[in-house]
Amino acid sequence: MTQDELKQAVARAALDYIAPKLNDESVIGIGTGSTANYFIDFLAEIKADVNLTVASSEASADRLRGHGIPVVDLNTVDEITFYVDGADEADRSLALIKGGGAALTREKIVAAVAKEFICIADGSKDVHVLGNFPLPVEVIPMARSYVARELVKLGGSPVYREGVITDNGNIILDMYNFMIPNPKATEQAINNITGVVTNGIFAMRPADLLLLATEDGVIEKKL
Ligand code: A5P
Repeated sequence: MTQDELKQAVARAALDYIAPKLNDESVIGIGTGSTANYFIDFLAEIKADVNLTVASSEASADRLRGHGIPVVDLNTVDEITFYVDGADEADRSLALIKGGGAALTREKIVAAVAKEFICIADGSKDVHVLGNFPLPVEVIPMARSYVARELVKLGGSPVYREGVITDNGNIILDMYNFMIPNPKATEQAINNITGVVTNGIFAMRPADLLLLATEDGVIEKKL
């Protein structure tokens, strides 16, 4: 199977997982990226059963509305029942690296509000230690050089993602050459740098369920 076919298979598995659990009060958090896009397209098949969604990016909100699926502002709901999103890497503790699509801050907010976070990924995202994928860090523009120097002190090689402005009006530094054996501590340490909005480590609030597409089918991983 191609990577794209694996992404489709895992998006379909997420739909099969949540569909029987939906009711007229359910709110579905929707992630960002190519795997999440497949999920959105499959969700359209059951849109009559979808009460509300909250999107983690303008791009996903547009795609949902294009299918006629209702999207609301997060501030209008108390809780998100399920949050379905992709990842760039996932380790055994279900800690993730996210933000390859620059949507990490809104994704982290939606994850924080979600009762159940279902991460959907193809098998290539499954790692022992996070960090081969360069870690995205969202930064207030005027703090770019200062934050970059601080990230170097932590041992990484930050690279400015040229031409990218986040939905929140900020910039992204991608941290190369930085393995992450202690994701919770590293997530907190980077977030403590003044000027950092957030970083792409999802360890304080990891996934609750990882659906991983492999050649042998979709595997479920839970803590
Ligand atoms: C978006 O900012 C990211 O967190 C995505 O969830 C992540 O990059 C996975 O993207 P793909 O589903 O396109 O691989």
